Amino acid sequence: MSGYPSIIQGGMGVAISNWRLAHAVASEGQLGVVSGTGIDAVLTRRLQDGDHDGSVRRALAAFPLPKIAQEILEKYFVPGGIPAGQPYKSRPIMTMKPPKSLLDLIVVGNFVEVFLAKEGHNGVVGLNLLEKIQMPTIPSLLGAMMAGVDYVIMGAGIPKAIPGILERLSQGLTASLDVNVGPAPKDVEAQSPTISLDPAIFGITQLKRPKFLAVIASASLATLLAKKCNPPVDGFVIEGPTAGGHNAPPRGELRLNEAGEPIYGERDEVDLAALRALGLPFWLAGSYADRLKDALAEGAQGVQVGTAFAFCRDSGMDESLRRSVVSASQAGTLEILTDPKASPTGFPFKVVQLAETVSNQAVYEARHRICDLGYLRSTFYQEDGTIGYRCAAEPVDHYEQKGGCSAETEGKMCICNGLMASAGFASSRKGGDVEPSLVTAGDDVKNLARYIPDGETSYTAKDVISRILAS
Ligand SMILES: Cc1cc2nc3c(=O)[nH]c(=O)nc-3n(C[C@H](O)[C@H](O)[C@H](O)COP(=O)(O)O)c2cc1C
Repeated sequence: MSGYPSIIQGGMGVAISNWRLAHAVASEGQLGVVSGTGIDAVLTRRLQDGDHDGSVRRALAAFPLPKIAQEILEKYFVPGGIPAGQPYKSRPIMTMKPPKSLLDLIVVGNFVEVFLAKEGHNGVVGLNLLEKIQMPTIPSLLGAMMAGVDYVIMGAGIPKAIPGILERLSQGLTASLDVNVGPAPKDVEAQSPTISLDPAIFGITQLKRPKFLAVIASASLATLLAKKCNPPVDGFVIEGPTAGGHNAPPRGELRLNEAGEPIYGERDEVDLAALRALGLPFWLAGSYADRLKDALAEGAQGVQVGTAFAFCRDSGMDESLRRSVVSASQAGTLEILTDPKASPTGFPFKVVQLAETVSNQAVYEARHRICDLGYLRSTFYQEDGTIGYRCAAEPVDHYEQKGGCSAETEGKMCICNGLMASAGFASSRKGGDVEPSLVTAGDDVKNLARYIPDGETSYTAKDVISRILAS
């Protein structure tokens, strides 16, 4: 036994891999991963929905600083839940200088998720974050570490600074991250691109340091991370272009197929020999739910699987969406597009084509652009040297006023609101509009029927695990 899990249930934001899914997987002896992306807003919405089973309040009661937990409860908890159609109370949007109330929400949101995922068993639990979303990273890691998270898994960028941050937080020391702001204007004093957090403000002097796995799509990036990180990374998840969520763009010039999807070729295949030579454990991801033996034969510890778990009964996916995807998958009618434009991050993003979601052109066009969650806003230097924030999915005139180019806004989807809706936390607007959902999944979404036990119409995380282990 290597001591490592054979199956990593991949992190899936927003709140698709929630604490329930990670708990179900970790209880089966595999690595259950919660998503920390957008979890501050999810926390406030769960409380406004009435926290019917009391789980959030149970986790809040375990937070080591009761005053902070109490303030959050007082501000957001609504016994019985807000009436249908009533907009959720907003919370501040992240910036380089966030108010303490937002830091509290991020720390507590991640704490709650990991606490509940770890409750009542001895299995291991990980936290998934996206490197592209930098500003909330340190408080997210801190909150998860306060709940004893065992692994941190991050992709969508080059997470070079993360091992050092985990080390410093574990020692109770101030941790810092340089945010990618781009070039500063000349001849003015530019605002610092560094964001820092002293864990002492949350009473922390020492914490367990979790293992860190980087999600990568090339051996050269793995080599860079293996050699340049201090302390070193603990391993890799190697993710291919059929995986759900964001994909790494193809190498070289972007070429599209007839459907408008990026074309991947031989150059995008990961050199596994070079990877093995690094001597670090790795897992293979992207349509590997049926290929555990192949992965082991390649020297991997196992596989990371997302799509199969995303549509099981334990996941955080809105029930009606989950059912429509499972039945379309069974019927063989499901379409999925690797959209090179949809995500404001600039990475290709897999979008399940469903009539009721924003993937439908009519739904897309009927939606009024608004940026009120702000996780994917990018930072840039304004002429006066201060840092500004913009998102290519926000209203086009706002984006242009901030120096953005309107061509960059074409086809952009509000992934923040779309994914929040697909997890059952859709924003309602004052005029009665409700944010449409957006569903992402890997190519494996066409094969969900194989997990459904005879005589049933749905399946569990345990069904997925049994089948992967037998593959
Ligand atoms: C619904 C969904 C959401 C995802 N969100 C994230 C995410 O937030 N962060 C991340 O690193 N990977 C994300 N992924 C990728 C998974 O963690 C995993 O690596 C991938 O799904 C594995 O390939 P598969 O889809 O073929 O199983 C997501 C995948 C799905 C299906």
